Amino acid sequence: MNIVILAAGIGKRMKSSLPKVLHQICGRPMICHVLDAIATFKESNIVVVIPPNGTDIENTVRHFARAKFEPKFAIQKKPLGTGDALKSAAPLLKINKPTLILFGDVPLVSNQSLKRFAKNFEKNSPFRILTTKIEKPKGYGRIIRNNSKEILSIREEADASTKEKRIVEIFAGPILINTKVLKGLIQDIKQDNKQNEFYITDLVAKAVKNNLAISSLELEDSREILGVNTIRQKLEAEAILSQKKIEYCLEKGLQIKDPNNFNLRGDINFKANVTIDAGCVFDGEINLGKNVEIGPYTILKNVNIEDNVRVDAFSVIEESEIKKNSTVGPFARLRNGVVVGENCRVGNFVEIKNSVIGNSTKASHLSYIGDAEIGKDVNIGAGAITCNYDGKDKHKTTIEDNVFVGSNTSLVAPIKIKKGATIGAGSCITFDAPAKSLNVGRAKQTTIKNWKKN
Ligand code: UD1
Ligand code: CA
Repeated sequence: MNIVILAAGIGKRMKSSLPKVLHQICGRPMICHVLDAIATFKESNIVVVIPPNGTDIENTVRHFARAKFEPKFAIQKKPLGTGDALKSAAPLLKINKPTLILFGDVPLVSNQSLKRFAKNFEKNSPFRILTTKIEKPKGYGRIIRNNSKEILSIREEADASTKEKRIVEIFAGPILINTKVLKGLIQDIKQDNKQNEFYITDLVAKAVKNNLAISSLELEDSREILGVNTIRQKLEAEAILSQKKIEYCLEKGLQIKDPNNFNLRGDINFKANVTIDAGCVFDGEINLGKNVEIGPYTILKNVNIEDNVRVDAFSVIEESEIKKNSTVGPFARLRNGVVVGENCRVGNFVEIKNSVIGNSTKASHLSYIGDAEIGKDVNIGAGAITCNYDGKDKHKTTIEDNVFVGSNTSLVAPIKIKKGATIGAGSCITFDAPAKSLNVGRAKQTTIKNWKKN
């Protein structure tokens, strides 16, 4: 099959300089959702129609496609309408295979629906369209049928009469068409309408004029075909998709305490007995082991969390891993490839960046740990920090097993604190500390007796 994705429109209604199809829905560009929906149509000849300055769209599609499929790109010189966009793709279509046409701004259409749509195509008709009924059809093309319910044409909102505007059956975007028929009819489309555009939807009336029957599939779930033309519709799409993912997780036993107050943008894999409290935002790929508890208002992005871990309220964890039986938060921040070992405790207001923390280590309060390798059974006191940046470069801190770092300590990297060493509270440590040594680096206390306050 040929698959054409139209993505060359200017997206004027978004009022944004970013191409419409690159606007993100649940953390991914809109067009990637469309590509997802055709993931099982592997053998297809995929043609994406882009504008002349569409390298960002091209790169996004290529990145998504990687080893999976080899997309082709057709350039639509001017955004003269969907009919003209299809015309730009026509030379790249294989004549002896049918063509599926999709809109890059209809991101929620599912793979199952497209499979149903494509099933037994050309049995009765060489032209099939996907429709649905919606309460507020404003902005969509209306399906015009005769008394025998046969499709006659699609009328665009701008050209519709008051009576036609009351029709609630709308054109969803997807079209399946015999490619010979497509190539024949596309040449006849004119800009004779209120918007002075070439409409792809005019193909329908043209086909009917040529005595071709138009078949249709009506989708019951109209949420799938939401067209995203405005920021408001983008938010609506995000809410619909997030809601669907949440419903799926609830069915699979994820204990989401407040499903109406959980923003699931990415995908979660989870084991038994996992609870998620209110107000969380999950992005990217999240893996949660059994008995994991995620506290309220926690933000997770691309995170692996093993069994029996508790993440307390208001923690922000990105690109990181937490091994089993550890607790993190409240108000903890982990980022850039942190690995927290087993049985660890990362407490409130602790920020860890690009560091590995060994098993049974604790940093319970108010710390910054950056570019560090920390061993097992280490205690990092309240207010201890790694000074990893000298104004130009970042440097590494190594803290070996069984080290005790006293409160309010500055460890000036590059530095090594060897096995079993102790660092006295309030120290500024600039030289390596030998194993089992006590290191204190602070001004000696001066005491003036009988001090009189003025
Ligand atoms: C279109 C349909 C409408 C349908 C609705 C479904 C037409 C004329 N109307 O309206 O019947 O109900 O989608 O969501 O087709 N594009 C190009 N080049 C262009 C113009 C658009 O590639 O010159 C692409 C856009 O990037 C977009 C898609 O085609 O991905 C749809 O274009 P848009 O202008 O959004 O059409 P609608 O007005 O939504
Ligand atoms: Ca649209």
